[in-house]
Amino acid sequence: MIEFILNNQTITTDLSPTTVLLDFIRKESKLNGTKEGCREGDCGACTVLIGSLEKSKVVYKSVNSCLVPLSAVHAKHIATVEGLTPSRNNTDDLSPIQNAIVDEGGTQCGFCTPGFVVSMTSYFLNEINPNVKDAVNSIGGNICRCTGYTGIVRALKKTIAAIGETKKDSNHYNRLIEASLIPEYFFEMPKRLKLIKEDIPKSKADFLIGGGTDLYVQRWEELVQSNSEFVSSKKISGEIKIVNSKIVFGGACTIQQVLESKIIKKYFPSLQNKLELFGSLPIRNRATIAGNIVNASPIGDMTNILTSLNADVHLVGKTKRTIQLKNFYLGYKTLAKKKDELVASVSMNIPTNNFFFNYEKVSKRTYLDIASVNSSISLVMKKGKIETACISAGGVAPIPLYLEKSSNLLLEKEISTQLVKDCAETAMQEISPISDARGTADYKRLLLRQLIYSHFLMLFPKKINVGELL
Ligand SMILES: Cc1cc2nc3c(=O)[nH]c(=O)nc-3n(C[C@H](O)[C@H](O)[C@H](O)COP(=O)(O)OP(=O)(O)OC[C@H]3O[C@@H](n4cnc5c(N)ncnc54)[C@H](O)[C@@H]3O)c2cc1C
Ligand code: FES
Ligand code: FES
Repeated sequence: MIEFILNNQTITTDLSPTTVLLDFIRKESKLNGTKEGCREGDCGACTVLIGSLEKSKVVYKSVNSCLVPLSAVHAKHIATVEGLTPSRNNTDDLSPIQNAIVDEGGTQCGFCTPGFVVSMTSYFLNEINPNVKDAVNSIGGNICRCTGYTGIVRALKKTIAAIGETKKDSNHYNRLIEASLIPEYFFEMPKRLKLIKEDIPKSKADFLIGGGTDLYVQRWEELVQSNSEFVSSKKISGEIKIVNSKIVFGGACTIQQVLESKIIKKYFPSLQNKLELFGSLPIRNRATIAGNIVNASPIGDMTNILTSLNADVHLVGKTKRTIQLKNFYLGYKTLAKKKDELVASVSMNIPTNNFFFNYEKVSKRTYLDIASVNSSISLVMKKGKIETACISAGGVAPIPLYLEKSSNLLLEKEISTQLVKDCAETAMQEISPISDARGTADYKRLLLRQLIYSHFLMLFPKKINVGELL
């Protein structure tokens, strides 16, 4: 049995663990405020809050319920738009966010509004000192196709002004309850979730689900009929930590965890802005590192970044073994991995003093889009020369590529405009792009050239003559 709390009600169900949360909410529980739009994680109409017990606090994140299996909500609190009104007895009561949306004309078509309300609520739950820029980012996964965002942003500004900041020594959730931003029953959640046993019975695995953000887009009909296993039931770590001078990512760690990690902020500050271009917040809250690697998309962002960082993949099956990520892809969606092997973790060296890293992604839309072409570079300099170099490229071959020839060409050389041109020329010959919806083969070749120029312009602006590159 799967047990969780849906708004203020404890649910136990023997439905298949692969049942889509959105279907449970709408069809079983008849809570139709949560909408079904794209069913692919793109529109945000199905956004709900998922609350997990961490120590004695429940931490809430926004997720796309169309991509979440029921197994992932065991021992969690799920809040839908119906569960966010201040009083369940008086359905006319609105939260300050809902009131602001009404007052500022932000309801528009109405269909997408519940998703906006839930994402905004998630922002205020997670931010003690709200500001407009971050608040707007938090609704990046909620798409409006009818009118635009002006009224919605006005509503956000109005709510920020009304709620203000929580002082560090006061209880944030209590303050939000007092301000009617969340209902009183949220207060009881830690106690109620503690009463639910953590483990759900294991089932035979046809599919292994990480965050489900690839699987539930590509194969959801098969999944709901199958008997899939949820990856965390295998106790795969979701932590990022330093072990023996290496940065280790647990396979189940999410992209948002990478973005928020103090370790990553310290060693890869430039990744902060770049990872915000990975899907949307609700997608990043679910998408895992292992899922990105095993999905084997040639344009996976984390795969591209980790390839250039010379990462190792640690597999667990009947035995444990390690393989370099750059050797993990044998052909299109063909991996050097046995069916029963799991990605337990991924590790890489801690950068040294003279280490340089850059990541670039070009997509048709800046936000909420996968790359047309992406590329990363990592370099170590010694006495003015390149000691080690590793360049990766995505979207230019059937697999995520490590550009061996282009990387080797850089070794023992000083940075110069000519070297960058030679490197880009070699890269253009090393790839085999195809023409598709994301662009022609020639266009992708040119994109990669520009991204290689961009790496060096970002890292060594004074050593490159832009005029000579053109
Ligand atoms: C709207 C939207 C936007 C997106 N934007 C981006 C983007 O900008 N950049 C990008 O790179 N991707 C993007 N993606 C793709 C997807 O989010 C990522 O590839 C994500 O990292 C997949 O992780 P997951 O945990 O959800 O994988 P899942 O869907 O759970 O699984 C994917 C594959 O990995 C396997 N798997 C999962 N965990 C393990 C494990 N521990 N060991 C072995 N196998 C495992 C599964 O069996 C499956 O074969 C987007 C997806 C959506 C829906
Ligand atoms: S229905 Fe569009 S994101 Fe879920
Ligand atoms: S608010 Fe629904 S499409 Fe614009």
